[in-house]
Parts: sequence; C-alpha cells; structure tokens
Amino acid sequence: MGNAMKNLLITGGAGFIGSNFVRHMLAKYPDYRLIVFDKLTYAGRLENLQDVLKDPRLTFVRGDIADRAAVEQAVREHRIDTIVNFAAETHVDRSILDPDSAHRTNFTGVYVLLEVARQFGLERFHQVSTDEVYGSIPVGYFKEGDPLQPNSPYSASKAGGELMVRAYHETYGLNTVVTRGSNTFGPYHYPEKLMPLFITNAIDNEPLPLYGDGMQVRDWLYVKDHAAGIDLVLHQGGSGEVYNLGGGNERHNIDVTRLILKLLGKPESLIRRVTDRPGHDRRYALDCAKIRALGWAPTHTFEDAVAETVDWFVKNEWWWRPIKSGEFKEYYRRQYAERLATATAL
Ligand code: NAD
Ligand code: TYD
Repeated sequence: MGNAMKNLLITGGAGFIGSNFVRHMLAKYPDYRLIVFDKLTYAGRLENLQDVLKDPRLTFVRGDIADRAAVEQAVREHRIDTIVNFAAETHVDRSILDPDSAHRTNFTGVYVLLEVARQFGLERFHQVSTDEVYGSIPVGYFKEGDPLQPNSPYSASKAGGELMVRAYHETYGLNTVVTRGSNTFGPYHYPEKLMPLFITNAIDNEPLPLYGDGMQVRDWLYVKDHAAGIDLVLHQGGSGEVYNLGGGNERHNIDVTRLILKLLGKPESLIRRVTDRPGHDRRYALDCAKIRALGWAPTHTFEDAVAETVDWFVKNEWWWRPIKSGEFKEYYRRQYAERLATATAL
C-alpha cells in the first residue's frame, strides 16, 4: 500500500496540524510530493509553512474543498493518489456563532473530496477527525465502536463527514482510514483555542477567560505526536478502520491554565471565571489501545510539550502578533467582551 503512495493532496495543510504534518512528512519521506490544498480562511496561513514553501517537493494550491471543480483540477493536474484531509472549520466557539461554515466545510467539503476520490479511483483517503464526535464521557474511555453523540455544531459536522467516509468505504470500496485525535497543541496553533489564547494573553498580562468552573477535562496531545500518529495510520491502518489518537494526558482546564501561568511566571490573578460555553462537553477521554497496537506512542510528556510550546510562543511573536491585531480583534470582542465585563475572579 505504502509503495503506491507518491502524490499526496494535503487539504487544510496551511493550518495548525496540517502544517506540522507537512513538515513531518517532508523530513521523513524524501520521495513524496505534497500538494497543499487550502482555502486560506482566517485560520490558514502561508506563514505556517514559511520554512518549507521553497522545497521543490511541496506545491501550494489555493482552493476550497467544497468546490468540486477546483478539487478535480488539483487531483488531475498533480496526479494525486492519496488525500489526507485536515481542512475544516475547527473552533467550537466559532461554530456556535456561525454553524453554517462548519457545516459547509466539515460535511459538504468531505463529501466533495470523497466524490472526487471515487471518480479518480484514488488509493487512499485519510480523514482527520476528532474525539469530539463521541460527545462527553463522565468516567471511563471512549472506544472506536462507541456511538457518536456530538454536542456542538463543530463536532456534529465532523461526525457527519466521518459517517460519509464510512459510507464511501462500505458502498464504493474506497480505501479509507479515520483518526480521532484529541485536543492538540504546539507551534503554529491559532491563538483562539485555550492553550495559545491563554499563553499569548498571559504574555501581554491580559485576562484569561476560563469558562464555567474550569473543571472540564480534555486529553492533550502534542502536535508532533499527532502528526506521527496520522503518518502511521495513513501507511499501516486497516482499510475502513477508525483509530483513536489521544495523548493520554487528561487535565482539568484550570490546571492547564495554572501550568501556563507558572511557566511564564505570571500571577493567577489573571484568571477570570466567565459564562460557560453552551452545550459544553465536560470530559473527553480515549482508549488508544488500537493505535498503540499498530506501533504508536506519544514521545513527549505533557509538561515538557507545554514548556516547549510556551517557549515557541515567547520566541515567535512575529507569528502571532499580526493575527491578534487583525480580524481576530472583532471575533474576540464578540466572544468575550460581555463575558469579561461580567467575570468574577477565581
Ligand atoms: P486549523 O483551523 O488550524 O486549520 C484548518 C485549515 O483548513 C486552515 O488552513 C484553513 O484555511 C483550512 N480550510 C478551512 N476550510 C477550508 C475549505 N473549505 N477548503 C480548504 N481549506 C479549508 O485547524 P487544525 O487545528 O489544524 O485542525 C486540522 C484538522 O484536525 C481538522 O480537521 C480538525 O477537525 C482536526 N482536529 C483538530 C484538533 C485540535 O485540537 N486542533 C483535534 C482533533 C482533530
Ligand atoms: P478549545 O481549545 O476551544 O478546544 P475544544 O473546545 O475543541 O476542546 O477549548 C479547550 C477547553 O478550554 C474547553 O473545555 C473550553 C475551554 N476554554 C475556556 O475555558 N476558555 C476559552 O477562552 C477557550 C477558548 C476554551
């Protein structure tokens, strides 16, 4: 299977995990050609690929995965044999404010990619999914066969995309794999999500808006380990199979927040308790025995990986300062102004 792989379409490759994956693949597979196909939404940035854009094995195409003609053109022109789909609207809070674009990209976009994969008889289709498709679990760990009970417009649209992948495997025999990754963090993480938002706010001595009681649990995964897990499943995963991909680092949000402040030497008085997210999932936790049996294990401890990440943000203000002074400001106002005005101290 791996031998036939040569020209890979990396959709959403200019985003956070996609760009880290591109870097991982260029370093590991000298003979692959990577075609990054990305719409460059607010979250997609060529800066994320700045150090590899000149590599002759990498081509960038600007396009929308929901635009069938554009996807067909890229697949034909670059003789694509494999699609790895990272492209998505990925932020739960934005999907609550605007469910439409999440539905369009995460559901219709996946359908369009599958149609083109079927039409051109592609060899492999890897859908990058999320643990959020399961919904919330108070105790224990989700296994791959558990029911999907998504609670946000984001997770519901991701679950819909995934189910379409399943249908294309069962109905048309498409060679598919799905990975359900847990909360990922690391370099080039768009500063709207908890980890990079709190790191960059803390650097600027701005308040950290913690939703609700801060006792929600997420399983944290370093982006380099996430990229390695996708690589392994892409090459070795069974056709039609789904793999949980979690770091095994379950932490309460309040503890993640405190760790960030400690690493930056900032006071806990920056924390603000703000109105909770509607439909907020309380806990995510994954049983990762299946992918571990395939040969994957995380190589970074949580504390080391967070320290590396904090250090990266401290050293790369050139990357995040322009983001936080642009369109982001309006989003931040919409999402947080009222919350912060009615916030309480911890
Ligand atoms: P991101 O928001 O940083 O990047 C998404 C990328 O997709 C951007 O480059 C954007 O321009 C592109 N894109 C969006 N809509 C597009 C469209 N219609 N056509 C083409 N490109 C489009 O997201 P991320 O955190 O890197 O997430 C990547 C994938 O991993 C997503 O599918 C997400 O659901 C999944 N995932 C993310 C996490 C996480 O914690 N970040 C965890 C598990 C799974
Ligand atoms: P986030 O990074 O948005 O990822 P997801 O919602 O996909 O898990 O949020 C991680 C956790 O942090 C989640 O429980 C929501 C919480 N959170 C806050 O408390 N405050 C914030 O400002 C943000 C963005 C998230």
